[in-house]
Amino acid sequence: EKGGHEFFMDKEIQEQPQAVEDTLRGHFDGTRIVLDEQRLGEDELRTIDKVFVVACGSSYHSGLVAKYAIEHWTRLPVEVELASEFRYRDPVLDRDTLVVAITQSGETADVLEAVRHARRQRARVLAVCNTNGSQIPRESDAVVYTHAGPEVGVASTKCFLAQITANLLVGLALAQARGTKYADEVAREYEALLEMPAAVAETLTLMDPVRQLGRDIADSKAVLFLGRHVGFPVALEGALKLKELAYMHAEGFAAGELKHGPIALVEDGLPVVVVTPSPKSQPLLHSKLLSNIREIQARGARTIVIGEEGDETIAPFADTLIELPRVPALLQPLVATVPLQILAAEIARTRGYDIDKPRNLAKSVTVE
Ligand code: M6R
Repeated sequence: EKGGHEFFMDKEIQEQPQAVEDTLRGHFDGTRIVLDEQRLGEDELRTIDKVFVVACGSSYHSGLVAKYAIEHWTRLPVEVELASEFRYRDPVLDRDTLVVAITQSGETADVLEAVRHARRQRARVLAVCNTNGSQIPRESDAVVYTHAGPEVGVASTKCFLAQITANLLVGLALAQARGTKYADEVAREYEALLEMPAAVAETLTLMDPVRQLGRDIADSKAVLFLGRHVGFPVALEGALKLKELAYMHAEGFAAGELKHGPIALVEDGLPVVVVTPSPKSQPLLHSKLLSNIREIQARGARTIVIGEEGDETIAPFADTLIELPRVPALLQPLVATVPLQILAAEIARTRGYDIDKPRNLAKSVTVE
């Protein structure tokens, strides 16, 4: 069933274009985005005045990615919070609050308790879930399923991309209901999403240098990941993959925080992965990232720069350059995460680990 792959995770990484495509399917009727019509229609969405996203692990990172788009499209405040923190707080919720609970398994204990916590305060709860009939969708007001298919590898890959996709659909549905975007703008955003399976597939063809890099740095003690804007949660996800799979110390930072502490960690030869935005669509952020790369290079870091194809400005600062196809700025995480998954898998493989079943981890965390 591994389809010729050594590990399920390799297969699941390759299935990502399909996961994104299948998650998009059926959510646009030619004029409007459709979420879960029966249980959460436009009338309910229209009155929402605040969004909380609750999740754990990679699912939490997918929520962080979506925050940028949802706030931009809807002008609603979006707070993304670890379910294990949210459930023990006294968050300000009411019936006009939408709580989006993101969970691949639908069984994560802290997410389930966060959902119950939210419902007790009459918030509306929308589950984004990959598992039909699981507990969290059952206890939610509505559900948007990610159609990634079963994910066997303990480290989430295709579900993560499918979650980002579903979260963005939620954002578009909110924008449409609130009228913060015209119907034709929503349709254009949806069309941009429809291009993403091909962009992810193209990214997968560009990964040989990443595998080589994984073999080259497999002995490192630590790896840092830097990003800004939507690249920041991608950096967090890259670090989590590396911890899980390769048992290597890895940290993701917002690149703007470098001088506030993390730069003290940079020493000769330390691999630092930098997720760089498009110079065309995000010139200001791009130039900020360039100065961050210069700063770490000056301190001897081994710079691994992930950036847009044809971006000549980054090449001189990159010890290793990893190119991504050009995609809209808010959608870059769907392609930028792919090399980080492959890097972690390759390092783990080189170290001789079972990438489907990392030590100490379970696929779903149903006890706290
Ligand atoms: O099933 P869930 O999406 O609720 O699981 C959440 C986390 O346990 C999960 O994402 C975990 O962090 C993965 N092992 C990440 O690869």
